[in-house]
Amino acid sequence: MTSSPRMIKIFDTTLRDGEQSPGASMNLNEKLEIAQALAELGVDIIEAGFPIASPGDFEAVRQIAQTVRGVTICGLARCAEKDIDRAWEALKSAPQARIHIFLATSAIHREFKLRMSTDEIVERAVAGVKRGAGYCDDIEFSPEDACRTEHDFLCRVVEAAIDAGATTINIPDTVGYATPTEVFERITMLRNRVPNIDRVIISTHCHDDLGMAVANSLAAVQAGAGQIECTINGIGERAGNAALEEVVMALHTRKDFFNCRTKVETRRLMPTSRLLTKTTGLSVQRNKAIVGRNAFAHESGIHQDGMLKERTTYEIISPEDVGVSKTDLVLGKHSGRAALADRARALGFTLSGEQLQQVFEQFKTLADKKKELYDGDIMALVQQEISGGSNREWTLVDYEVTSARNKTPHVRLTLKHGETEKTETVEQGDGPIDAAFWAVERITGIEVVCKEFQVRSATLGRDAIGEVNLEVEHKGRSYRGVGASTDSVESTILAMLNAVNRIAAEKTVG
Ligand code: KIV
Ligand code: ZN
Repeated sequence: MTSSPRMIKIFDTTLRDGEQSPGASMNLNEKLEIAQALAELGVDIIEAGFPIASPGDFEAVRQIAQTVRGVTICGLARCAEKDIDRAWEALKSAPQARIHIFLATSAIHREFKLRMSTDEIVERAVAGVKRGAGYCDDIEFSPEDACRTEHDFLCRVVEAAIDAGATTINIPDTVGYATPTEVFERITMLRNRVPNIDRVIISTHCHDDLGMAVANSLAAVQAGAGQIECTINGIGERAGNAALEEVVMALHTRKDFFNCRTKVETRRLMPTSRLLTKTTGLSVQRNKAIVGRNAFAHESGIHQDGMLKERTTYEIISPEDVGVSKTDLVLGKHSGRAALADRARALGFTLSGEQLQQVFEQFKTLADKKKELYDGDIMALVQQEISGGSNREWTLVDYEVTSARNKTPHVRLTLKHGETEKTETVEQGDGPIDAAFWAVERITGIEVVCKEFQVRSATLGRDAIGEVNLEVEHKGRSYRGVGASTDSVESTILAMLNAVNRIAAEKTVG
């Protein structure tokens, strides 16, 4: 007789390991929105940030701890008093809080990074875990670079951390070096050799440098791990972390093999993935498992024929189970606010009353130009709204562009700053887009260097919305901007204003 499925905890670190990777930084509102979506997705633990890293990180963890319910909120700390104290300060209002303390244990890290002896590491780990345990009863300890740590020493540190009060022991493959067999053997080794190991949950945290993060996480589960650390879309340091949607769907689809389950509401996987994509501007590859655009597309004639006869010939997951709807619902100018809110929610976006109002106004304007609005259009409008956030110091009033072969492009731009309208005419640049950049810089007085500029159409058809995603640098820091319109020059100006408003918001805060 088979035993009942073992429950595996899903520890999401999109807002910590994910957010610290290039191009994935989010502002406070965006982090709150993602945290809420993760709670709705049904993850067990949200690692909300690294409170000592910056005032922004601290504030995000504090506000998530204050507002997001039904899930454990975790903050990361190095194994040092000031880090642990700061993490607790940020977390203390959460009904379920966890402090995650890490300290490197491998010989390479001991010798070159920490310059500490093995005895000193054990002493520091014990002191740190005890300090954390003085604040809360949910303490996770991570021997960083565990997968390259000598077995004897790893056992010694883990045993000492458990005796000091750790309740979860996380075994990170920090540099993405391990193979599934090695991970399996390491977890098995710890279970066999550490005498007090049964008092804790063993966790896995795998990076994807060799493309094995998901396989390694699943191998850890097979060896007895009870928690997987992962991120939406697999974002994270360097090549990223294990992708949440992949580990969850592997456990779900192959229950016959793993005999494990999670609390994740799988129908929220695609909407949550989309929300993160739209929030960070980091899109996933088309053929990405579970959430890629092609994940459920069948192109070959033989496959299509098989699918028509019996879906399971070529499909192991039904798209609806991960929140992919096969039909692109069409809205039009007679669709009301409720229908729009409904569709946005199904696509992964829960809009506040004010956000809905803004999107609805743009939706109506667009519906006048374009008869039918598809999911891609709705997502583009919503993305523009959510990434605009509450700060709209500069807004677009009007623009006029002329461009012709062998003529310098001409842009006349009017922006609003508070109640004041400012107009500039620019006759320079390599083309109308470049001229629009110049005009925005001149009016706002904010100079930027454009690092990345992408235009893509949100839907099919000649009247499709053009989405501009850009990354600009201002005083050594990088900022994102998005803009959506049926006119690509307007999309560019809106994206540029979006980035400028982010810069202006930081200046206001100080
Ligand atoms: O990859 C890693 O080792 C980490 C630790 C902080 C757990 O992210
Ligand atoms: Zn990591």
